[in-house]
Amino acid sequence: MIEVTGVSHTYPGRDHPALVDLDVRLDEHRIGVIGANGSGKSTFARLLNGLVVPSHGTVRVGGWDTTRDGREVRKRVGFCFTDPDSQIVMPTVAEDVAFGLRRRGLSKADAATRVDDVLRSYGLHAHADHAAHRLSGGQKQLLALASVLATEPELLVMDEPTTLLDLRNSRMVADTVAALPQQVVLLTHHLELVTEFDRVLVFDRARLVHDGQPKESVKIYRELMA
Ligand SMILES: Nc1ncnc2c1ncn2[C@@H]1O[C@H](COP(=O)(O)OP(=O)(O)OP(=O)(O)O)[C@@H](O)[C@H]1O
Ligand SMILES: [Mg+2]
Repeated sequence: MIEVTGVSHTYPGRDHPALVDLDVRLDEHRIGVIGANGSGKSTFARLLNGLVVPSHGTVRVGGWDTTRDGREVRKRVGFCFTDPDSQIVMPTVAEDVAFGLRRRGLSKADAATRVDDVLRSYGLHAHADHAAHRLSGGQKQLLALASVLATEPELLVMDEPTTLLDLRNSRMVADTVAALPQQVVLLTHHLELVTEFDRVLVFDRARLVHDGQPKESVKIYRELMA
């Protein structure tokens, strides 16, 4: 599904690349991404939905090239940002979930039913008509996830989706991810989140330094951090 070929990326105005010589093909269902601060994880995530286009090389998702076919890629890839404020676009909680659905062509009535379901499953139903920007940090993170999942993307990319969440909601996000039919790429510093994943990539200093089973990947990451 995801094919990254010969990718390097340097942000404008930067002397050092954020990613170097990345070649990876990802077909597994659950893919974890771990590594030090500034190692290139979020850059990798942004490459997958075309938010960042590579300075060199190609990124393909479901056969679509993120540089050439950005629109097609964004239709298929749902993205959860670390900072939920950057993702909440509408005044109320229900409107925010409805926004993405309406954009995908659902009727007002169908969207309303789906919004109701989604808010119930994320424990946000009591907040349906509340101002989205007044939710707590963790509630905003849940809302951002709910809004993205409501649109049923083919691939879900999550950049540290549990940083603001309490234990119960972290568990809920983990269980949600475990049950999703879609392919998920999840970046995190919460290593317990990826222990059941199919494959875990370890980034360090702009390079993919290990790619394997969760246990081995976490061990290598711990050694790098020691
Ligand atoms: N928009 C940008 N413009 C310029 N440089 C950037 C930009 N975004 C990231 N960088 C730089 O690219 C490098 C990799 O950053 P990236 O955000 O991918 O790291 P990360 O692994 O996600 O780190 P963290 O764990 O802290 O989230 C860093 O040196 C960072 O300063
Ligand atoms: Mg990051």
